[in-house]
Amino acid sequence: MSLTTCTIHVINRQDRTVYVTSELANALNLSRIRGVTLSLGSKTASLGLKLLKKTGHHLYLPTAVYSQLRVPRPGSITVMCSNGKDIRIGPMIGVLTNVTRSSSAPFGSRTSFIRQFMRAGSDRAYYFGFSPRDVNWAQSTVTAMIPKGENGWMRKVIPLPDVVYNRSPSRKAEKLMSMNAFKSRFIKKGIPLFNWSFFDKSDVYRLLEGTEASRHVPESRINPSAAELRNMLERHKFIYLKPTGGSLGIGIFRLTYNPKRGYYARFRRAGRNVLLRFSSFDSLMALLRKQGGSLNKYVAQQGIRLIEIDNCPIDFRFHMTKNASNEWVVSAIGAKKAGKGSITTHVRTGGQLMTPEQVLRQIFGARSDAVLANAKETAVKLAQTIERNYRHTLGELGFDIGIDQNEHVWMFEANSKPGRSIFKHPALKEQGRASLNHLFDYCLYLSRFRARRDS
Ligand SMILES: Nc1ncnc2c1ncn2[C@@H]1O[C@H](COP(=O)(O)OP(=O)(O)O)[C@@H](O)[C@H]1O
Ligand SMILES: [Mg+2]
Repeated sequence: MSLTTCTIHVINRQDRTVYVTSELANALNLSRIRGVTLSLGSKTASLGLKLLKKTGHHLYLPTAVYSQLRVPRPGSITVMCSNGKDIRIGPMIGVLTNVTRSSSAPFGSRTSFIRQFMRAGSDRAYYFGFSPRDVNWAQSTVTAMIPKGENGWMRKVIPLPDVVYNRSPSRKAEKLMSMNAFKSRFIKKGIPLFNWSFFDKSDVYRLLEGTEASRHVPESRINPSAAELRNMLERHKFIYLKPTGGSLGIGIFRLTYNPKRGYYARFRRAGRNVLLRFSSFDSLMALLRKQGGSLNKYVAQQGIRLIEIDNCPIDFRFHMTKNASNEWVVSAIGAKKAGKGSITTHVRTGGQLMTPEQVLRQIFGARSDAVLANAKETAVKLAQTIERNYRHTLGELGFDIGIDQNEHVWMFEANSKPGRSIFKHPALKEQGRASLNHLFDYCLYLSRFRARRDS
């Protein structure tokens, strides 16, 4: 297996031949033969081979071959050869998302993130964005949105990709049968697709149930009955009630039980934090039913006493990615301090972004490095366990992690399509880039653009 990079040129000729510089032919261990196959994504062409006595890694394609293979653009790309005669160029990395009519922001508010993702290894891969309706299965092609110049985009019909990074934005749309069938078609064709769909909180707790890693998940009850809520409140003194398919802290309650004074509920209503007291459990339940609907699709969770600064709880976002060796790595950590009176740490409710070092030093002093190292190890273990018990391929996870005063590490939720807001912090910019590089490397791994056959 030989792998390198080369520059692709289009030449004004009519023959069905690929012209390869002798230096590139050597690097690829090409046999001295007359014919080769050249593949790009789902397309393959059988071509004559001619060597050019020239230095450098260059590959020249006659116009007709270039258009038959539907090469997205000329220029620098990865090239590999496994057996001396079958050449692959690519990889073609497709980002599955919503495509709008706008030519400047074809992926709406996600355009800038997707563009950033496409910059990692942009001279070694063909990147494009697409939505389900852009795929033509009969022709094995995609009408793709391809980056052009610094910030522009162009539409072009190209082959099916080697790997799909799923960033489709709608929780609801992802649950449709049609969307599942669409994604399954890639898998059936042997095209890996990673980050299959959004997680519900209950899915993640189930994936971890009964595993060694479950000691990092607070006790959780899915669709709790009133009796179960009451029982959890008595045992834990405070609990969190969270919509299982929720995000951004929306619909969350923090409930407290004090044997002398009764029950308290904290939540957010009309953009403000409210605190209500109830003398009986039944009146608390009446409020919950009024505010939270039937509490169907909720999960009740043991409350964790998080570390605090200025009386504001702190938790952490661990941004996990796979790397070139198919291993989980912690590619970034952001610390989040809750806004005054807020029960969650989201920036939209006044939360403040900090670095974990800043926070941990202040709280654990000399022990802070050990605490951080332990939390990282735990996060990797959690990612491995979730992956092991999950049916689909994962490439990225965003964990909301808490640390309590006893240094115990807790996971509140795992996001399978993590946001990137922590990377707005100036100290985390570099980690943001690193996370995208890991994702690119993982795409190389999944698409088998690898120098050695290792799995
Ligand atoms: N069991 C818990 N104990 C203490 N704090 C919690 C608990 N569950 C959630 N939180 C706090 O609320 C935040 C939001 O909870 P999370 O489960 O991440 O829901 P969302 O999907 O709305 O982000 C967490 O980041 C954490 O600060
Ligand atoms: Mg969260």
